[in-house]
Amino acid sequence: MSPQTQCNIFGTTFNPDRIRMGNKVLRERLKGPALAAYYPRKSVTIADIQKEFNRYDMTTWNEEEEDRLEGLQIAKLRGKGAPKKKRTADTSKKGKKRNPATPKIMSLHQVQTGSGRLSGKVALVTGAASGFGRAITQRFVAEGAKVVAADMNEEGLAKSFGESPQTHVLTITCNVTSQSDWKKMVDLAREKFGGVDILINNAGTSYKNKPTLDVTEDEFDKVMAVNVKSIYFSIPAIVPAMKERGGGSIINIASIGAMRPRPGLVWYNASKGAVANASKGLAAEYGKENIRVNALCPLLSATPLFENFVGVPPTEENVKKFLFNVPLGRLTDPDDVANICLYLGSDEAKFITGLNMEVDGGRAVGA
Ligand SMILES: NC(=O)c1ccc[n+]([C@@H]2O[C@H](COP(=O)([O-])OP(=O)(O)OC[C@H]3O[C@@H](n4cnc5c(N)ncnc54)[C@H](O)[C@@H]3O)[C@@H](O)[C@H]2O)c1
Repeated sequence: MSPQTQCNIFGTTFNPDRIRMGNKVLRERLKGPALAAYYPRKSVTIADIQKEFNRYDMTTWNEEEEDRLEGLQIAKLRGKGAPKKKRTADTSKKGKKRNPATPKIMSLHQVQTGSGRLSGKVALVTGAASGFGRAITQRFVAEGAKVVAADMNEEGLAKSFGESPQTHVLTITCNVTSQSDWKKMVDLAREKFGGVDILINNAGTSYKNKPTLDVTEDEFDKVMAVNVKSIYFSIPAIVPAMKERGGGSIINIASIGAMRPRPGLVWYNASKGAVANASKGLAAEYGKENIRVNALCPLLSATPLFENFVGVPPTEENVKKFLFNVPLGRLTDPDDVANICLYLGSDEAKFITGLNMEVDGGRAVGA
């Protein structure tokens, strides 16, 4: 027995190669994750099992269904095909089609580990209580990630994620302009979820759209601190954690204003220009550590920041005025941003780094 196949979960040392259906104690203690790790691959390692275990959602455990699927899987591995149903005298179901409304039975892998595009990954999302950050967090959880949702708005976090299972979302009240808060966020992800694979630097702010001569020093300092210094602080906190996991994906939310600045938001747009530029620099510097860094440049969206950007609330009339030069004819939906973050955070984008990606319905084309 190789020492690598020795594993300890819930205080039980076991050799996964020797788990069999009949071992009730192990089955009770290990439930699905270890079994899932074992049955599909004989060369299971401790890391495999821990990974499967971390992914597993105990809240949806269904013992009966699990037993049935496990039986099928074992039969398949033994090359005997699925166990035949016992014949009974009741032939009433003969010739009947399955009711399409009956849910399709999921595969063993789906039942036990989830099949999301971020399955097994841990993400840290800042500014998660509202707008883009909330949509990103929700999408990531739906795709199998575990998320540390960070924001300075404690009430907003509770409202957005108070009912989410803590096995998938942990909230933390923090200020992204504080270096010690960055340590707390990363420590939480490490302690509760085992590390961090994806960081979304999304928390951001702006002063109200106005002539540049009216922008105060405090407003300038705040916009630079929340939008740029936060990323400066995030790097020393996140890079060592990502190195521990063999790499990671950092996604910084910039703005289309980084590329096409407009009057009235000069220093906000300049802060986002810094975000876009720093993302490329960081991508160049940390590629060798397998840490990818990309920035998104979204168009205006009807989140709470809309009024700051445009100076008026997002009523139908005000939105209409803004859309005349957007080829796809609408504002950014927070899900548009969440979808791109999903792609860039997943392994599907493993060769993509240093991108400043417009999420703007074609606005920057200049139509
Ligand atoms: N909404 C838009 O039109 C738009 C367009 C392009 C880019 N962006 C950028 O997208 C990001 C998200 O914006 P949104 O529209 O979802 O705004 P939002 O106001 O809905 O969300 C921003 C969140 O960040 C949090 N936050 C602000 N300062 C913080 C701090 N110091 N520490 C911790 N949390 C803090 C807020 O509490 C809020 O929950 C921002 O970086 C913004 O600049 C927004």
